Amino acid sequence: MVKVRLEGLKKYFDKVKAVNDIDLEIIPGEFVVLLGPSGCGKTTLLRCISGLERVTEGKIFFDNDNITYLSPRDRNISMVFQNYAVWPHMTVKNNIAFPLRIKKYSQQQIQEKVIWVANLLGIDNLLDRYPAQLSGGQRQRVAVARAIVMEPRVLLMDEPLSNLDALLRVRMRAEIKKLQEKLKVTTIYVTHDQVEAMTMGDRIAVLEQGIIQQFGNSDEIYHNPVNIFVAGFIGSPQMNFIEVEIVHKNEIFYLGTKGLEVPVLDILKDKVSKLSDKRNYILGIRPEHIYTADRAQTDKVVTTKGKVYFAELLRSDTVIHLEKEFGLLVIKTPGDLKIEEGKELEVLIDLSRIHLFEKDTRKAIF
Ligand SMILES: Nc1ncnc2c1ncn2[C@@H]1O[C@H](COP(=O)(O)OP(=O)(O)OP(=O)(O)O)[C@@H](O)[C@H]1O
Ligand SMILES: [Mg+2]
Repeated sequence: MVKVRLEGLKKYFDKVKAVNDIDLEIIPGEFVVLLGPSGCGKTTLLRCISGLERVTEGKIFFDNDNITYLSPRDRNISMVFQNYAVWPHMTVKNNIAFPLRIKKYSQQQIQEKVIWVANLLGIDNLLDRYPAQLSGGQRQRVAVARAIVMEPRVLLMDEPLSNLDALLRVRMRAEIKKLQEKLKVTTIYVTHDQVEAMTMGDRIAVLEQGIIQQFGNSDEIYHNPVNIFVAGFIGSPQMNFIEVEIVHKNEIFYLGTKGLEVPVLDILKDKVSKLSDKRNYILGIRPEHIYTADRAQTDKVVTTKGKVYFAELLRSDTVIHLEKEFGLLVIKTPGDLKIEEGKELEVLIDLSRIHLFEKDTRKAIF
């Protein structure tokens, strides 16, 4: 198990700052996910770590070895790509054995290792087939098998599941996670899928424009997003963002706008009392933290009313878009709610779950 450390890492393509000054420390055996929208620099960062891309500035360490200028071959890493790069003219067995042959393993060692990894991934019955005779999921398993057969120091995966259908993706998600736990290989996994990130990563690095916005476990990223970007990127439907002013009345602070006045709980009072009322703030409320009257989880709530503009009846959940003066307020409630569009509805906002951001800096206050 190896520790991976990135120090002031930069990768520029002319003027494009694909990776822009990244510091990251990954503990041995950890499963870290790089999460972010298209073009934020995930693949570039992974390619820098693999050695396929030469860094513009900064250092990469595996344990205490500076490997920044080592060739990919000498780094002892394996990479799995989105488009399962398996060789079509080789059987599954030969695909998996290929990296071992390059490294001049003996016939017997090759045989043993291929069997070991094929069993691990449940493809031992497919060893004599060619890739064209496999399903997408099986092909991706072969690619993963080939990556781990070398027992790399670091396993790098770039959106390995995005070509699979939804059902298979969920299954492979669990399989890769379990496999990594078993092998305890330090793993860096790239995805733009927040569910994949939340379910697989020990820790998640959320990227935007080549910069890590937040690095933490799923609990921290979901409950304590550091800024509006992370708050909006994690969670579905997206967090409601409402521009508010701070109002102080009768010893109580309110976060208010036309048609909504949210009192601040005592535990957050200190943080709000320090804020300037000249500035603009953004109130953040996740749709799942707004309840219909019969499903309130707490009595620390504030009620608000509106007309139902649109209801998404998913049956397992119901997502309601409520018309308010400031726009639409989105509410997500579990279960099959009988609800009519155009009807007036009262909902309860959970006061212990609200977030506040400064509008200019986009940073979280709480
Ligand atoms: N070889 C290259 N030459 C010039 N610009 C590049 C090159 N590779 C990537 N870029 C640019 O660097 C930025 C980051 O690209 P990258 O492929 O790392 O994004 P990504 O996060 O992996 O996106 P996606 O989710 O779409 O795969 C993008 O603006 C991209 O256009
Ligand atoms: Mg990419």
